[in-house]
Amino acid sequence: MHRAVFATTLILLTPAICAGALSIEAAIEQRQAAFKAMKDDVKRIKDALRVKEPADIVAAAGEPAAQLVTNSKSLVGTFVAGSDQGDTRAKKKIWKNWADFEARQNALISGAEQLLAASATGSQADLKTAFKALARNCKGCHRRYRQIF
Ligand code: HEC
Repeated sequence: MHRAVFATTLILLTPAICAGALSIEAAIEQRQAAFKAMKDDVKRIKDALRVKEPADIVAAAGEPAAQLVTNSKSLVGTFVAGSDQGDTRAKKKIWKNWADFEARQNALISGAEQLLAASATGSQADLKTAFKALARNCKGCHRRYRQIF
């Protein structure tokens, strides 16, 4: 039994070490930093949603939307196996439902790309529609895969 657990641990850790992938601790730190940055980006988009002039909307939303694209992409590869352990709120369930989690992660990237495209139009209606879709995905994924405390 113990030997089996040890062997499983080795199998989980070995690719991370050999392939130059992130260690569990580094992966957790990187994804939490990306999420924190995205929270700030979202705040700035919310401010942009109150702006009236099309040119001002483009100016206010363009940068945070571009950052959302970069930050959402930087999450890829940070949910390494075993990283439900440690200083993290990621639920074990992520790895049991990997296809669903990955689909949500990809939807986050495409949602951010759509937000960026919307921000360039200067249309408040377009920005709002794209932002709502993005925010729905944030909430849905947290409800399912992030521990409350
Ligand atoms: C694919 C699922 C998923 C999506 C989509 C998602 N999150 Fe998260 N988020 C998580 C998980 C899981 C954690 C817990 C990460 C950890 O603690 O290791 C988290 C953590 C966070 C945190 C806390 C970071 C910290 O530790 O300080 C913030 C803030 C956050 N997310 C914001 C967002 C925002 C804003 C969006 C949408 C723009 C978003 N998330 C979209 C899964 C997701």
